[in-house]
Amino acid sequence: MIKKITTLYKEKFEGEPSVFRSPGRINILGEHTDYNEGFVLPAAIDKNIYVAITKRSDDQINLYAGDFNENYSTDTSNIKPAPIQWPNYILGVADQLQKQGHTITGFNLIIDGDIPIGAGLSSSAAVECAVIYALNEIFELGLTRMQMVALAQKAEHVFAGVNCGIMDQFASMFGKKDHAIKLDCRSLHYEYVPINLTGYKIVLLNTNVKHNLAASAYNTRREQCETGVSIIQQNHPAVKSLRDVNMEMLKDYVEAVDPLVFRRCKYVVQENERLLDACEHLKKADIKALGAKMYQTHSGLRYDYDVSCKELDFLVDYVKQNADVAGARMVGGGFGGCTINLVKESAVENLVAAISEAYTQAMNLPLTAYQVSAENGTASCTI
Ligand code: GLA
Repeated sequence: MIKKITTLYKEKFEGEPSVFRSPGRINILGEHTDYNEGFVLPAAIDKNIYVAITKRSDDQINLYAGDFNENYSTDTSNIKPAPIQWPNYILGVADQLQKQGHTITGFNLIIDGDIPIGAGLSSSAAVECAVIYALNEIFELGLTRMQMVALAQKAEHVFAGVNCGIMDQFASMFGKKDHAIKLDCRSLHYEYVPINLTGYKIVLLNTNVKHNLAASAYNTRREQCETGVSIIQQNHPAVKSLRDVNMEMLKDYVEAVDPLVFRRCKYVVQENERLLDACEHLKKADIKALGAKMYQTHSGLRYDYDVSCKELDFLVDYVKQNADVAGARMVGGGFGGCTINLVKESAVENLVAAISEAYTQAMNLPLTAYQVSAENGTASCTI
């Protein structure tokens, strides 16, 4: 990929570029908990977005996306959302830098990568993190990783219109080889937990669908959680987020008033509890217990949080009958993308063959499988 993007750069622009990369992520447990100030357990993976870049002396911003074979140009005095989507993950970052008082000149930038798009593996956060890291380096802005994470998240809110939590950008920037990150999304305290799967592999199964309502439904879920909090606050003013809420409070104050909001909040409260247990299972390499938690999470996302879809449910239901699969669930925001599966190493090949055939027969869609490992976060690449 590094060679490919450098060659592409030289075809499109002049000069010797600097190259940076930022990975996609999986999440072992803790879905839709980040914007509720809960816990998450993601890991950066061995699939990346790459950026090749040089700065310019004028104010031109020239972008080229290898994936789409498309270019887009603007200038630093006129950064606003583009009519096509991919430049917005880059321009949103430049816009945030300017809003925070940083001065940048123009730049030439090529973007490419091997993170499947729309697969729930956070290719957009990886773009934002690769770009902020690249701009921080070439313009010597002196931002810390934590500052870059916050800025990349803000870029997603403003230019992509998704009111996301901090998990994706954090995982991409702070990933560590062979480790998951247990992140407290309230304090931003984090701990690396070794991924010791004792004979199991992490297999992602990509439904190859991304239903349209994903972004709007995401924002609605977030609002429903906030509604739950505001109902409880009338009796418990100290409650700031679902992090401070327990099942008793939900039953006492929310269930009768708003049954839908109750179900959404119930899922989040239960998921936070599950995550703390799951971290202990992972630390003890108790893969069966961890897998059982993953199945429970999927049920919660399917029936209470209502962000799954028939393609994801098909894949989870299918593997549930297989004793070689310890656990599975949808990963990321939902409405398509991948399931994450813990599969016995010796069974991976047969499972992938069988489920691919069954999926295609049932859904009339191809299934794509990836075995992934946990890798380091955003970095410069040596050419
Ligand atoms: C998306 C968001 C994250 C997180 C997940 C769900 O990936 O970007 O912040 O909320 O959905 O866990």
